[in-house]
Amino acid sequence: MTGVRAQYEAFPYPERDPKDEAKRLIGGSPSHPVEIDHFLFGGQRDWSQPFRALVAGGGTGDGLIQLAQVLTSAGKPHDIHYIDLSEASRKIAEARAKARGLEVTFHTGSLLDAADLGTFDYIDCCGVLHHLPEPAEGFRALRAALAPGGGLGFMVYAPYGRSGVYPLQEAFGALFEGLEPKARVASARKVLAKLPAGHPFKRNPHLKDHENGDAGFYDLLLHGQDVAMDVQTLLGLMDETGWELVSFTQPALYDPAPLCELPEGMGARARMALAERLHGTIKSHVGYAVARGEGRAPASAAEGDPVPHLRLGQRDQVTKLLANSRPLPINASGIEMPIRLPPKAARLISAVDGRRRLSEVFAEARMDRDEALPLWQRMEGAFTGIGALHYSEGLR
Ligand SMILES: C[S@@+](CC[C@H](N)C(=O)[O-])C[C@H]1O[C@@H](n2cnc3c(N)ncnc32)[C@H](O)[C@@H]1O
Repeated sequence: MTGVRAQYEAFPYPERDPKDEAKRLIGGSPSHPVEIDHFLFGGQRDWSQPFRALVAGGGTGDGLIQLAQVLTSAGKPHDIHYIDLSEASRKIAEARAKARGLEVTFHTGSLLDAADLGTFDYIDCCGVLHHLPEPAEGFRALRAALAPGGGLGFMVYAPYGRSGVYPLQEAFGALFEGLEPKARVASARKVLAKLPAGHPFKRNPHLKDHENGDAGFYDLLLHGQDVAMDVQTLLGLMDETGWELVSFTQPALYDPAPLCELPEGMGARARMALAERLHGTIKSHVGYAVARGEGRAPASAAEGDPVPHLRLGQRDQVTKLLANSRPLPINASGIEMPIRLPPKAARLISAVDGRRRLSEVFAEARMDRDEALPLWQRMEGAFTGIGALHYSEGLR
């Protein structure tokens, strides 16, 4: 058994109890169908058509359950497959799906063989590719399993926001070689407690996984195969393996312009790389990609009359702040990016219900198009920047 498989047999990740499915649905990025539609299908996917998806390295099932539950609740046809090396993880994901009455086809095996399962309109690969001995092989294998016109939702670890992690992984790797996974956790916890308060890991306020039980601790500090990639490395891997980035889910994190004056003519990749270094807190890159050369772009209000969906935690508080001319206190990946909008924006926000088209939102807010559109475009820039606004037609 490989070290990675042994780890996830001992510690299925993330730690989940299928009984909790009765209480809550865990949401996130990538892989909410509205988000998939926004980034991969111009917000116009016809969800009455079959949707074949693969959750590659699905672990204990967070992305899988979200995807299957939202499509099931909306009554949309789907054929969702899950694959993971770890049987223990699969058992938990299976029990979660069963608890909700969701239909999923489960496979135990490597995503390197994904194409053996056919081709898919959508592939989720969250938190996995950086754990492969050769991440390029993983990207290539998933590309081979992509149906024409389909796309990938991914998350890979990023180095700077994980500062302090890698020297500890190396030190614990050297110290605990040969020990069973459970014994490693117990020993590493003792050592960690004795490290100086100024250790970069202890000074990094953005790392929390080690506080989430043994599986989280192992995943963060004891992983034997964990290679974070900066944005240039990630995009280089995509170039090499036939992918192209559509967008990160929070593109504002990759914009250095609010921090400094940029040299003239700086290209898009160099800007993203600069932002990643200047911010220093990005722990993971989350985004969507398609086959190289397609030039697909996320949905926007510039295209027709789309249906907006807002993901803004406490909507009442947001509209109250705006109506009182106060900025929205946004913090994404540890970066403060307050959003300032005129009070009228509150009316537009209140009118978005995930069913109305933009023209209907304007009418509901009692604003004519000439007045509403420039304000909406400003809101679109701000909210899509932090992953809080998506367009999706067919999940109304
Ligand atoms: C950090 S967990 C992420 C789980 C899940 N995708 C999530 O985001 O919650 C990584 C998972 O990838 C699986 N994995 C690692 N290498 C794999 C491979 N080559 N093929 C399939 N699964 C793999 C592990 O067994 C583990 O369940």
